[in-house]
Amino acid sequence: MDPVYYKILHVFALLVLTAWTFAAFANPAPETRKQTLIITGIASLLMLISGFGLVAKVYGGHFFGWMIVKVVCWLVFSALAGLAYRRPQLRGKFALLGFSVLLIALVMVYMKPF
Ligand code: HEM
Repeated sequence: MDPVYYKILHVFALLVLTAWTFAAFANPAPETRKQTLIITGIASLLMLISGFGLVAKVYGGHFFGWMIVKVVCWLVFSALAGLAYRRPQLRGKFALLGFSVLLIALVMVYMKPF
């Protein structure tokens, strides 16, 4: 399959994950928890699958340093929606952390420093 389809899925899942994570920061009401965790869980999994699909298709399965950094950013970002419900008083800090790891992941993919 053309890697462009993996890219579309990767970025689409990223947008869904980001939207629902920040919605959870805005209103971590207990009645929205289950739906948020299902949607962010599926989006997060799709991001990882399409990301590794791209590693295979674009880079022939060779793993570079910037990819490891992206996996760490993905791990941190994927945990944030759940954390917003557990520690709602810290959501401002979680949002800051979320923006930071998103920025780091973007710098990694567009500059590929190592
Ligand atoms: C928060 C985490 C992540 C963000 C914000 C992110 C974002 C992006 C973006 C914006 C692209 C560029 C699409 C394009 O313009 O062509 C991309 C491509 C890619 N991503 Fe991710 N991604 C994340 C996580 C991951 C993970 C976990 C992997 C798995 C190793 C991964 C592997 C890749 C690969 C291999 C590419 C293709 C790069 C290329 O074409 O040179 N990403 N990602």
